[in-house]
Amino acid sequence: TTRILLDADTGIDDAVALVYLLAQEDVDLVGIACTAGNVGVDHVVRNTLAVLDLLGATDIPVARGAALPLVQPFAAADAVHGESGLGHARLAASSRSLDPRSAAELWIDAVRAHPGEIVGLVTGPLTNIALALRLEPRLPELLRGLVVMGGAFEHRGNVGGTAEWNIFVDPEAAAMVLDAYRGRDLGHVPVLCGLDITERVLLTPQHLDELRRMTGESPVSRFLDDALGHYFDYHAREVGRAVAPLHDPLAAVIAAGRDVRQELRAATVEIELRGEHTRGMTVPRWVSGAGAAGANAQVVRDVDVDAVLAVMLRAFEEMSR
Ligand code: BDR
Ligand code: CA
Repeated sequence: TTRILLDADTGIDDAVALVYLLAQEDVDLVGIACTAGNVGVDHVVRNTLAVLDLLGATDIPVARGAALPLVQPFAAADAVHGESGLGHARLAASSRSLDPRSAAELWIDAVRAHPGEIVGLVTGPLTNIALALRLEPRLPELLRGLVVMGGAFEHRGNVGGTAEWNIFVDPEAAAMVLDAYRGRDLGHVPVLCGLDITERVLLTPQHLDELRRMTGESPVSRFLDDALGHYFDYHAREVGRAVAPLHDPLAAVIAAGRDVRQELRAATVEIELRGEHTRGMTVPRWVSGAGAAGANAQVVRDVDVDAVLAVMLRAFEEMSR
């Protein structure tokens, strides 16, 4: 069993990642930390609880986290994920209460309760984990692993030209987390799934048609249609094709330990904090051989896209029955 703590800014693809994770019998989702990102943190909390209710996972602790990045002001990405953050989906508000702890406390309690066992999965800005690091500097060594959807290693960003959204929202937090791994030998470094790779994992309306043929209509398949329909339309306008890049779901597949023929490359990754036009850019210095020991990240350079889509559709099918 893989114990995963998810830290998300629950928008459309974060929700899809949740669908995937909850379909995995060998994944124990120990909690979800919410952060401002795609939408404000209150929306993120609402979305997270509502999606968990939809999926029948009402016993997973959900903690409210950062409302603002560490240093800079915050602005949401309404156009990408819709005003609520879940596209056209309108889920009933949950009556469940939040965990009383802050997101940073959730991180710390989880790793202290299960030292060396928790895989952190971050699918939003890294604010909460940076705050947790401030309170518990041993966080990296208490984790078993850390997988982050973040970065653009060929420097084609999805915001401001060169940056990727999760890093762009809180570059200082991302830098702080990567710095915590610099020059240490902890047996793991953060695995970074950047846009270069996630933008190749494209779900299309045909995949959802196929799902409907297999399972018929169900609350989950309807949710996927409504949420991803908005993503399809957004990308149809932006890139001329109705596709949904599965950014966060890819990171979830990797965190769950699935073999999707991922190729990782060690790098020392710097976050550009002062660039006039490049703030939030991820700058890798690729290392190999003995140099790899000093790296602070493993960057995902390749995956078997069909294998990722196949495990995703299997999870959708499972959760739609
Ligand atoms: C990332 O930003 C968000 O819009 C997505 O949910 C994903 O985590 C992609 O840049
Ligand atoms: Ca996200």
